Amino acid sequence: MKVLVTGGAGYIGSHVTDMLIERNYDVVVFDNLYTGHREAVHPKATFVQGDLLDKPVVDKLFDDHRFDGILHFASHTLVGESMEKPWLYLRDNAVAGSNLLEAAARQGVKRFILSSTANLFDDPEKIPIVAEERIVPGSPYGESKYIIERYLHWMERIYGMAYCCLRYFNASGAHPNGHIGEDHTPEYHLIPIILQVALGQREKLTIFGNDYATKDGTCIRDYIHVMDLAEAHILALEALADGKSRKYNLGNGKGYSIMEVIQTARDVTGQTIPATVGARRPGDPGTLIADSTRIQNELGWHPEFGNLRTIIETAWNWHQSHPQGYATKK
Ligand SMILES: NC(=O)c1ccc[n+]([C@@H]2O[C@H](COP(=O)([O-])OP(=O)(O)OC[C@H]3O[C@@H](n4cnc5c(N)ncnc54)[C@H](O)[C@@H]3O)[C@@H](O)[C@H]2O)c1
Repeated sequence: MKVLVTGGAGYIGSHVTDMLIERNYDVVVFDNLYTGHREAVHPKATFVQGDLLDKPVVDKLFDDHRFDGILHFASHTLVGESMEKPWLYLRDNAVAGSNLLEAAARQGVKRFILSSTANLFDDPEKIPIVAEERIVPGSPYGESKYIIERYLHWMERIYGMAYCCLRYFNASGAHPNGHIGEDHTPEYHLIPIILQVALGQREKLTIFGNDYATKDGTCIRDYIHVMDLAEAHILALEALADGKSRKYNLGNGKGYSIMEVIQTARDVTGQTIPATVGARRPGDPGTLIADSTRIQNELGWHPEFGNLRTIIETAWNWHQSHPQGYATKK
């Protein structure tokens, strides 16, 4: 089966590509290396450097290859940035998605997987957040994912393209083999930032508020290991063979507080990891946890790497062996 992975040089896309290759898929990675890294792409994948905003380049990609399925990771990905530069999201993410979908529909691609987000649920009625929760995008980032989810609704109705929207919570950890991991510049994700403090690359960590209604006052989040995410993509890709579209929340199902994450990182690394408490960040909810029951029941997915210590150990293994991330920097 030949699949296209957009954004396959990025953090999550590179792990999914790696697993697809291990399972004998023929993989074409399309990435503009805006935040991705050429080295992160498995050597057995075909790499095409290009931008989804460049329609002729996207059309040529589909002239050169016939795809049985598409996994769409390429995106601007930052909630905070989207509040400052909304058009990168409301326009660019949407145009990138529409260029891709137009070419995919023309070719008759029947399976499509979208990296969607928990940011669709800004004001959940209950925690853990179920797949049926009403959608209230929390930012232009979340809105841009919802726009693509809506495009997919029409792709299915008009072209019979079966799709799966995977609404991830916080991706974390690294491949257990230590060859690929998370490398974003600047880094905005909690676990890599904590590990940068452990490596002495940052002086200390700032905790944004410790007066939330949680067990230790710090925010609780759902960290899902990137290998568990990868497994879910492969299960979803296979399941779409039945032509039925799906939407799943994808998290660990366990919430960990920021203090728990810091303490576990101290235990794993043996470092002090100084942390101070700052003001709350506007818009940060106290607790976000996924209810992934639907994907567990329908596809038999379950997290294998859900333990916080395992998440941090695999991330630490990557950060220790690649203290500056990938060698090639743009
Ligand atoms: N990291 C998380 O915790 C998380 C949570 C929820 C959803 N997601 C979604 O998962 C996907 C992957 O996230 P990530 O953390 O791996 O991000 P990432 O930045 O590491 O990867 C994104 C990749 O897409 C590429 N890209 C961006 N715009 C492109 C374009 N116009 N054309 C071609 N390539 C382009 C980048 O170069 C990069 O390699 C994104 O869609 C993101 O919104 C991530």
